[in-house]
Amino acid sequence: MNKFQLPSDSKLRRPEFLFGVATSSYQIEGGAQLGGRTPSIWDTFCNKPGAVDNADNGDVACDHFHLWQQDIEMIQGLGVDAYRLSMAWPRIVPHDGQVNEEGLKFYEQIIDECHARGLKVFVTLYHWDLPQYLEDKGGWLNRETAYKFEYYAQVVSEYFGDKIDSYATLNEPFCASYLGYRWGIHAPGIKGEREGFLSAHHLMLAHGLAMPHLRKNAPNSMHGCVFNATPAYPLNDSDIAAAEYSDAEGFHWFMDPVLKGEYPQAVLDRQSHNMPMILEGDLDIIRSDLDFIGINFYTRCVVRFDENGDIQEVPQPTNEHTFIGWEIYPQALTDLLLRLNERYDNLPPLYITENGAAGEDNCVNGEVNDQQRVMYFQTHLEALDAAIKAGVKVDGYFAWSLMDNFEWAYGYKQRFGIVHVDYQTQKRTLKQSALAYRNMLLERREENQ
Ligand code: FCB
Repeated sequence: MNKFQLPSDSKLRRPEFLFGVATSSYQIEGGAQLGGRTPSIWDTFCNKPGAVDNADNGDVACDHFHLWQQDIEMIQGLGVDAYRLSMAWPRIVPHDGQVNEEGLKFYEQIIDECHARGLKVFVTLYHWDLPQYLEDKGGWLNRETAYKFEYYAQVVSEYFGDKIDSYATLNEPFCASYLGYRWGIHAPGIKGEREGFLSAHHLMLAHGLAMPHLRKNAPNSMHGCVFNATPAYPLNDSDIAAAEYSDAEGFHWFMDPVLKGEYPQAVLDRQSHNMPMILEGDLDIIRSDLDFIGINFYTRCVVRFDENGDIQEVPQPTNEHTFIGWEIYPQALTDLLLRLNERYDNLPPLYITENGAAGEDNCVNGEVNDQQRVMYFQTHLEALDAAIKAGVKVDGYFAWSLMDNFEWAYGYKQRFGIVHVDYQTQKRTLKQSALAYRNMLLERREENQ
């Protein structure tokens, strides 16, 4: 297939529907010691033996620090409407309370270049690269970090104002807290149930503290937050409650405080011994009117209650999986969006801020034949269309990722890009999926002219 197919009545054909590609700072930038940046928790984590596959790190990554100009030209060439990137906090506030003008300028040239090429800019303020100097004082376990984030959000929004088309405070607070502080598989590598929930609460507080500054300093931009959701399905009828609980801990725990001003009761009850200190007024800070919610979707999970009444994930080996081992199950995207629409009365417009697949991609004679990824995108665009037709308001879709990059604890082996990166030469090659995306977008553009 050389083009993703959108049926003639597809809602994704509307010119207002926005298509984009996404990246994040630590995963692509490199230049770790350049431009006044100081280490983040990921620089530290990568140095821990055994923490990251192949002992990979983000020192150079895709060298976007030097190649940003050609990368943005390439993004424009794909025919997308928008580019989602994140800013590295330790590039902008490299020491406590000290702003690095050079860091702001680095992002300013990127934003200007995008605008000059007709691309909207979606910025995420926190995509997991916490300054190490804050981790040294407890990181997200320390309530103070939420106030440090407030300061950082203030600095960025005062400088850029409405120049940034869309601000997201956090990317996937689930991963930042549970993977980083509960299960220890992401930076900073802390393991503890209480730590997982405490860091989660402080992340949500950080979101709430930042929002008024974003509103004030960038009144014409959109403001939101990005969540990941891996919706759960019961293995048997007797496991329905297990699936409900899995969703509660997995994403209601993060979305409910923002949209409803409360934490889900099921989690408060089941995890009562691990609950963080929630101060009076915290939930009023966290609850916020958002212009959009970003949803990152990759896969689903199937769960059951085990003999001890614990929730256990049950692999589905007979279904198709991507190279990273995630089941391909597009129907779950439709189901998820419908479930969210039902759960929240005041659900703001949604954007799919990430969706994509990892492949074992080789570049042969200048071509990368990533057929599984092509099918992945095709079927997920159909699943998204189905949700929109069923009444969910979704305004945009970003492919994860623009190009292969540092895939966190998996290092460089897992390639999520629609563009292939040769890490020896930094050569970029459009994969079949990038060509199919581009051809669909160019066709849509012609139709809408
Ligand atoms: C998401 C992250 C993103 C990338 C994809 C594969 O959880 O937000 O940075 O790693 O998964």
